[in-house]
Amino acid sequence: MVKPIVVGIIGAGRIGRLHADNLRVMPSFKLKSIAEAVVGEELLAWAESRNLGSVFVNGEDLLNDPEIEAVFICTPTDTHATWIEKAARAKKNIFCEKPISLSSAQTSRALKIVKEEGVLLQVGFNRRMDPSFRKLKQLVQSGELGKPHVVKITSRDPQPPGEAYVLSSGGMFMDMTIHDFDMARYLMGEEVIEVYTRGANLVDPMFGRCEDVDTAVITLTFASGAICVIDNSRKAVYGYDQRVEVFGSHGSATADNCRPTTVEVSTAASVTRDQPLHFFLERYNQAFTDEVAAFAQAVRLQEPIICSGIDGQQAERLAEAAKESHRTGLPVKLSHGAI
Ligand SMILES: NC(=O)c1ccc[n+]([C@@H]2O[C@H](COP(=O)([O-])OP(=O)(O)OC[C@H]3O[C@@H](n4cnc5c(N)ncnc54)[C@H](O)[C@@H]3O)[C@@H](O)[C@H]2O)c1
Repeated sequence: MVKPIVVGIIGAGRIGRLHADNLRVMPSFKLKSIAEAVVGEELLAWAESRNLGSVFVNGEDLLNDPEIEAVFICTPTDTHATWIEKAARAKKNIFCEKPISLSSAQTSRALKIVKEEGVLLQVGFNRRMDPSFRKLKQLVQSGELGKPHVVKITSRDPQPPGEAYVLSSGGMFMDMTIHDFDMARYLMGEEVIEVYTRGANLVDPMFGRCEDVDTAVITLTFASGAICVIDNSRKAVYGYDQRVEVFGSHGSATADNCRPTTVEVSTAASVTRDQPLHFFLERYNQAFTDEVAAFAQAVRLQEPIICSGIDGQQAERLAEAAKESHRTGLPVKLSHGAI
């Protein structure tokens, strides 16, 4: 049996705890410690219920543990790059939640240090591992759909995040659409050459106060000429709406929403189905496990990283371009492959 990878998690909020619960039941990992800036009774009870040996307030204490081989960075976005640099210098392999940072200079610096130290970095674009989106990717790759012409991504949240989260998130394009930018690149297997955005503040004035949008349509043009349309909202009253279609010269393929059951109820009054699975924790449950399993294979078996630092960096470039296009009202051209 392959030796489990001893890991620590920095940041035990929503996503940190999700990864903790997944890592604990996976034989490829031994979750040893967490570091969390805000340690209260609730966190300690949570850590105890998971038999976690150490709870540090300072992530550097976790990085100083020579037994820990890999770290999961699950802190707010504006701290990721600093933790990547520290973890790389401590020679830990790194799984970092998306995005890598809020500035291209910081991301480049973090990636340079990762390269210098020769550690692995996987970025948490979990949707790449969703079984339905993987199938779409295979259909594109195999040529079954012919030459892709249009990709349509609908990505709407069931409820908006709080103001504090919005302020540290980098805004909707960097925080939420970034998954869709990565999905577009992943499905098409090529780079985007133009980004054009229409954004609006229609859900909650809080987003406007944070100089952010809560609604947007973004058009991406690929080097091949194919077009992608992404439509985003921070609030869909009927639930988490996550659909993707690839339309090509030989046909189209659609990944629909996932629902708790497939039952459809037809009466004289209506035809109804369950609402989509509530939110990302439920909808992408399998993908969160599978991305971590892929990380283990990269660390132990030298399999290729499923989502690299460069993938993270390219998605950030698209988010920056979307922001710029929203600001100016003009399309933004991107130089192809220039990183
Ligand atoms: N892949 C996904 O689908 C997905 C989903 C949600 C969030 N995320 C990403 O995960 C990150 C965290 O999001 P979240 O929703 O879990 O936020 P969160 O606020 O719930 O959790 C962040 C935690 O980090 C802690 N923290 C802050 N600074 C710290 C430090 N220096 N050291 C240790 N702990 C620190 C906070 O106290 C908090 O408990 C964000 O970058 C977000 O973009 C990814």
